[in-house]
Amino acid sequence: MHGRSKTKLGVGVVGCGNISMTYLRNAALFGEVELRACADISPDMAALRASEYDIRALSVDALLADAEIDLVLNLTIPAAHFDISFSALSAGKHVFTEKPLATSASDGRRLVAEAAERGLLLGSAPDTFLGAAGRRARRLMDEGAIGRAVTGTAFMMGRGMEHWHPNPQFYYQPGGGPVFDMGPYYLTMLVNLLGPVARVMAMATRGQEERLITAEGPYRNTSFKVGTPTNVLSLLEFRSGATITFGASWDVFRHSNHPIELHGTEGSLRLPDPDTFGGTVSLSERGADWADFPSESEPYGARNWPFAAPDRANYRMLGVADLSRALTTGRKPRASGDLALHVLEIMEAILASGESRESVAVNTKVGQPPLLGEDEAASLLGDIGGNLT
Ligand SMILES: NC(=O)c1ccc[n+]([C@@H]2O[C@H](COP(=O)([O-])OP(=O)(O)OC[C@H]3O[C@@H](n4cnc5c(N)ncnc54)[C@H](O)[C@@H]3O)[C@@H](O)[C@H]2O)c1
Repeated sequence: MHGRSKTKLGVGVVGCGNISMTYLRNAALFGEVELRACADISPDMAALRASEYDIRALSVDALLADAEIDLVLNLTIPAAHFDISFSALSAGKHVFTEKPLATSASDGRRLVAEAAERGLLLGSAPDTFLGAAGRRARRLMDEGAIGRAVTGTAFMMGRGMEHWHPNPQFYYQPGGGPVFDMGPYYLTMLVNLLGPVARVMAMATRGQEERLITAEGPYRNTSFKVGTPTNVLSLLEFRSGATITFGASWDVFRHSNHPIELHGTEGSLRLPDPDTFGGTVSLSERGADWADFPSESEPYGARNWPFAAPDRANYRMLGVADLSRALTTGRKPRASGDLALHVLEIMEAILASGESRESVAVNTKVGQPPLLGEDEAASLLGDIGGNLT
């Protein structure tokens, strides 16, 4: 086990499942964070990850009480996010949580208020908007490359999870669904680029009442009931006046829509999948051919995932490193609880509108997170400079 640094942020992971592998591996990239312990409701999962990453396996309660843990990284399932984050804040720990912040905006508000009252920092995934493509798009928008954004589209469409995730049932219950599960990537990127949303209208349906699990694992060839809409089309009215169509569906086999396109008074901007940190941003100035901005050579733009045969950039943990820097410099984290709460309120409004068939106002007013500059982005990397072997 490596020596303890007093200057680094001591991280304790709660929830040692699928996504924990990415965070645990990426932690070594960042100079100011240090993995110290992990916990899971299943002691076997905690023991497995602890042995893989040479950290201590603890019970959840012991991790929350541990003096070496400064920040709890909450990688549990959505239904457990609120309880684990609230307990961690109550124990005096900073928190960074996987998305969504909570399964309801009222629970999200309690977390934001609790952190503020205790003077602790609360951060939330996604941090993908801090990746190379997100930074490029934000710089172009700030420079006025497309003028004032007028309209645009964002589409997250696919077949769902049951063909690859061994226990996908939770994705199809309230708190899951394509809006709550994938919406955070698209909506956080849109708020990063356009500012806050004022109002939404949506229609929500489900393509199938039951889903069959075909992924390898204990539930293979069993079916489960779908408990939340799986196909949601929404209209987002931003406070800036921009209006965006956002489609989120797990009832689509194949499609040709770009993940995000924004159209303004001076041009159009095309973004890659906001669930990745890299990819190519393209700009058309007043209808000219697309000019491409690849991100492979920029911080957090190089392909590094899946580890065996990388085809995309995955630097989850970047938001924790930014939060760590925020702590030492006295600023707010960029992937903040406030931003995640606004996104949660948008998602809740989308589902509420889908049910009521009325437009629904979004009340939280968050600002755009400050642009992460290229120098600061690079400075978050530790000695190994972005290379993991
Ligand atoms: N799997 C992915 O590719 C992926 C990608 C991005 C984000 N996420 C998000 O990460 C989170 C976790 O997803 P996952 O795929 O890793 O799920 P998972 O089911 O593989 O892992 C979750 C882990 O949390 C543990 N857990 C559940 N409740 C707990 C509690 N109360 N206390 C302690 N441990 C508890 C479970 O035992 C499990 O090991 C979700 O919010 C999901 O939206 C997942």
